[in-house]
Amino acid sequence: MKVVTIGTGYVGINTAAALAYVGHSVVGVDIDRKKVEMLRQGKAPISEAGLDELLSQKMDLRFTSDLSECVNDADVIFIAVGTPSLPNGHANLDYVMSAARDIAGSMMPGHDVTIVVKSTVPVGVNAMIERMIRAGIAERGGNTDYLHFSSNPEFLREGCALMDTFYPDRFVFGTKDDKAYDMLYRLFAPFIDQTFEPPSFVDMPNPRPKTQCIHTDQISAEMIKYASNVFLALKISYANEIAGLCEKLGGNMADISRGMGMDKRIAPYFLQAGLGWGGSCFPKDSLALLSMARDYDYDMPIVQAAWDVNERQKDRLIQKLLAHLHVLAGRRIAVFGMTFKPNTDDVRNSPAVDIAKELVRRQANVVFHDPKGLDAGRIIYKDEGFLFCDTPAEAASGADAVVIATDWACYRDLDWNEIRRVMQTPCLLDARNMLRNMPDIISHFDYIGM
Ligand code: UDX
Repeated sequence: MKVVTIGTGYVGINTAAALAYVGHSVVGVDIDRKKVEMLRQGKAPISEAGLDELLSQKMDLRFTSDLSECVNDADVIFIAVGTPSLPNGHANLDYVMSAARDIAGSMMPGHDVTIVVKSTVPVGVNAMIERMIRAGIAERGGNTDYLHFSSNPEFLREGCALMDTFYPDRFVFGTKDDKAYDMLYRLFAPFIDQTFEPPSFVDMPNPRPKTQCIHTDQISAEMIKYASNVFLALKISYANEIAGLCEKLGGNMADISRGMGMDKRIAPYFLQAGLGWGGSCFPKDSLALLSMARDYDYDMPIVQAAWDVNERQKDRLIQKLLAHLHVLAGRRIAVFGMTFKPNTDDVRNSPAVDIAKELVRRQANVVFHDPKGLDAGRIIYKDEGFLFCDTPAEAASGADAVVIATDWACYRDLDWNEIRRVMQTPCLLDARNMLRNMPDIISHFDYIGM
């Protein structure tokens, strides 16, 4: 099939490349000409395991900034642009609306096509986009009976985006239109039936998943995305709340999470206590859900509590440092990890950055190390007063405390004797509890977990 994906961010580029890999003819469209140029040279604009290898495969995938040159050939068009938070918590729909306007403006009336919203949009926005595109084409005197619409939320995680794209747990197709459902089912059939040749450069989950497919109305599909993300955020906040109580009562949170997770109804995932959640989805989607509820005068105390507990984790970390160092002003604090989680270079909405800002506000000197995030960090946070070091030992040199803010595996294998040797005082605050069960390392430090 001929596919157009609008937006080449995490969702757009992974979807476009995976669909091309299974034999579809795909055009990726982005208004950012620099990104398009990079992609034309086979370079991924984001750091994602296996993506460079995938883009170098021989397949029918090209990139352009001009939607009008490909829109009228397409069988399926995906809108996969960002919906970041506005200051009031609502999702910013500017990019989604602009993509819809571009489709309406460049589509020839009578063209038979399925338009699919993959961007995470508040409930009702799919219907709004459908109305807008139909009205735009009808205005030019065109028949819009040939247009089909579906919501198809995306659940991929940064860092293992391709694994999630090739081996998804589920597809959600939200549409009242059987033609749109059929098109999407056929388009994704290689993933639903797992009939493609597994790419060697993408990790395959073990066991290979049985991908499920659910056909819902548009509103339910939109809500499945928010309800899923916020449920995962809730699980983490719950684990953090229990961990806080255990700090007072005793108990080992790693064992407690493991014991809870052995119940099939609970499952072991997303119960890891620590500094809390960040990234470009959980915070944004929690805020959007709360804003949607507020618009309808509806309280969501559970979602609000998940948010509050997550904020409290950052304060707990500062309090732990204060209890240990007494004074933060003038102290050198080395923060290991700047990205919002390991295996990504994404430093946006990272809890590590939030605590660093608070430390700077309290006049501490913050020195960051991160295996992948420093390039972006140096640009995005250039005015925050942070220092950046290319090795953990440099960052720790003369430090009053080391804070592990992101659980990068490489920190487990560090020469911790060397780190201890170069530090001023041996305070190690492991905000991801990753060294908790490594007595050989932590016995040399004043070790504090979360
Ligand atoms: C998330 C969803 O998982 C994905 O389905 C959706 O499409 C986008 O949002 P992502 O933002 O890439 O994906 O990150 P994820 O791996 O879910 O982690 C989110 C945050 O939770 C990270 O900051 C991570 O460090 C934190 N986390 C995760 C915990 O603190 N504890 C855990 O047990 C798991």
